[in-house]
Amino acid sequence: MDRRVQTAVVGCGMISNIYLKNLKNLFHIIDLTAVGNRSMAAAKEKAETYGIDHVMTIDEIAASDEIELVVNLTPAYAHYDIIKKMLLAGKHVWTEKTMTVTVDQARELVDIANERGLYLGVAPDTVLGAGLQTARRAIDMDMIGKVTSGVAVINRDQALNSEYYTFLRGGGGSLPYDLGVYYIGALLCLLGPVKAIRAFGAPAPVHEPEFLYVNAGTEPWRIPGSNVISASLQFECGALVSVLFDGNTVNASQHNITLFGSRGILKVGDPNTFNGPVTLVYAGQPECRLPFTHGYDGANTIAPTPFDYYGHRGVGVAEMAYAIRGGRPNRCGKEYGLHCLEVLEGMEVSAATGRTVEPASRFEMQPLAPGYYSSFMNGMGQGDAERSLMD
Ligand SMILES: NC(=O)c1ccc[n+]([C@@H]2O[C@H](COP(=O)([O-])OP(=O)(O)OC[C@H]3O[C@@H](n4cnc5c(N)ncnc54)[C@H](O)[C@@H]3O)[C@@H](O)[C@H]2O)c1
Repeated sequence: MDRRVQTAVVGCGMISNIYLKNLKNLFHIIDLTAVGNRSMAAAKEKAETYGIDHVMTIDEIAASDEIELVVNLTPAYAHYDIIKKMLLAGKHVWTEKTMTVTVDQARELVDIANERGLYLGVAPDTVLGAGLQTARRAIDMDMIGKVTSGVAVINRDQALNSEYYTFLRGGGGSLPYDLGVYYIGALLCLLGPVKAIRAFGAPAPVHEPEFLYVNAGTEPWRIPGSNVISASLQFECGALVSVLFDGNTVNASQHNITLFGSRGILKVGDPNTFNGPVTLVYAGQPECRLPFTHGYDGANTIAPTPFDYYGHRGVGVAEMAYAIRGGRPNRCGKEYGLHCLEVLEGMEVSAATGRTVEPASRFEMQPLAPGYYSSFMNGMGQGDAERSLMD
């Protein structure tokens, strides 16, 4: 259990900053030894910044006898090739969301991982954060009774954002896939698998560059797929949840997850963070904010950087590393990643065909043990929260 898991990161862009910092400093189970990237200059720069010993090509990482776990932080459209290559090379893989851009590709990867007895973990791991684990505990403790329905809403100007984040112009870049996945992940963590989906959708507009960012280029483009989705999800637990993801509006996010229960209502904070506030509402009572029951609240206490806004990303990697050593399933596992993607694709298919779509996959996600806090002793007790990842 104590033997650290030798880990390499592939993909040295924006989000790698918080992953590299956290994987290097925060989790005792992870031994981050190498980074790789398509452009080796970026990999060298990150290795120097975060004190990582080896800069390797993607092929060298795949061929390494030492590296057990590869963390894939490339854009979604590149995920399938990299994950497949690493699984076939015998590596466990953690990947940023979404696992791939199609369900068929994801099923193939799940099959490869199953055949070879390898772990495949998938973001979002914000579901392991203090906010969503506290909400999960409130539901598991029956604080709102049986969940009967819910609402999940998020909006952005995704076309404008794709001027800066150029990978959003490709597969997996629409608002439902890129950001909606945090809301789907949160709902799955709180309510379990989805039984059926009905949806309407609208495409992104052809985007004429507004030149707010340096990467805009001059030619217009269109983000693929539905950039607005209005859907109804029927969960196996019986809850009916209305989902609205609108990427064709403005960057003033009106995020909302509210779950209505037979005895109370739970408001859940932004699932793209680790510390979204959890509020309990009972009839005739003042609203009550619940104290967090779990650690990993996104507060990064080691050498603050501008990327700390991204919180405790990497906690899913560490939880998977403990699962590998302990021989148990990991919480953000391949079945969870596949089901997230089936729900996203199911909304697209339902919108295009008018049919009800029933996901074929199922998953289980055990809650983390409560009572371990990363803020213990003003952050000096980081290992305290890590204890919650071990079992
Ligand atoms: N940007 C965010 O706010 C954010 C937040 C959470 C998660 N994510 C996810 O993280 C992933 C990466 O996002 P990012 O913002 O860091 O993107 P980015 O474009 O800044 O970085 C991606 C990196 O991957 C490299 N790359 C691309 N294709 C490659 C390949 N085939 N082999 C090796 N390297 C390759 C690029 O050179 C680049 O360095 C995406 O899946 C995204 O959805 C992004």
